[in-house]
Amino acid sequence: MSVTRAPAHWACAPLKTSVPNARHQARREIESAGFVAPDSDAAYSIELAVTELVTNAVHAFANAASGRSVRPASLIDVCLRWTSASVVVEVTDELPGVPTMCPTSADDESGRGLALVALLGTWGVRPTPVGKTVWCEIPYEARGVAC
Ligand SMILES: Nc1ncnc2c1ncn2[C@@H]1O[C@H](COP(=O)(O)OP(=O)(O)OP(=O)(O)O)[C@@H](O)[C@H]1O
Ligand SMILES: [Mg+2]
Repeated sequence: MSVTRAPAHWACAPLKTSVPNARHQARREIESAGFVAPDSDAAYSIELAVTELVTNAVHAFANAASGRSVRPASLIDVCLRWTSASVVVEVTDELPGVPTMCPTSADDESGRGLALVALLGTWGVRPTPVGKTVWCEIPYEARGVAC
């Protein structure tokens, strides 16, 4: 199956409310693209990756804003790119800091987001001129045709 759908792009303000908004937007894109079943593991994985990566960018903005090392108009860009066998979730910010998967202990209350993302697919970070893009490529199986 060839995929000709244009990437879905949207921008979020660096606010907590952007996290559920981005998740809803991802759900709308999943349903409108139709490449994966709405109740499939892949669909939930896409939502989870968007949730974790946007949450991280919102936190990074809050941390940078408290140290004033951030542009006030800074936005978070989310992109879903479909290929014939995977979807790439990309979250781009203009913020300092490097996403780093850290070891956690059973008592830690946080620090597991990127470990979760790593379970969903291959992930990585690439620099942009003013920040970075954190991406996760999630494989999916094309929806079967009933016979
Ligand atoms: N977009 C980002 N910009 C800057 N630093 C980031 C970004 N994303 C992640 N990090 C850094 O990587 C660390 C690990 O992220 P991770 O999502 O695994 O854990 P967490 O966000 O601290 O906790 P949790 O996701 O469990 O609530 C963060 O604490 C932060 O220091
Ligand atoms: Mg996190």
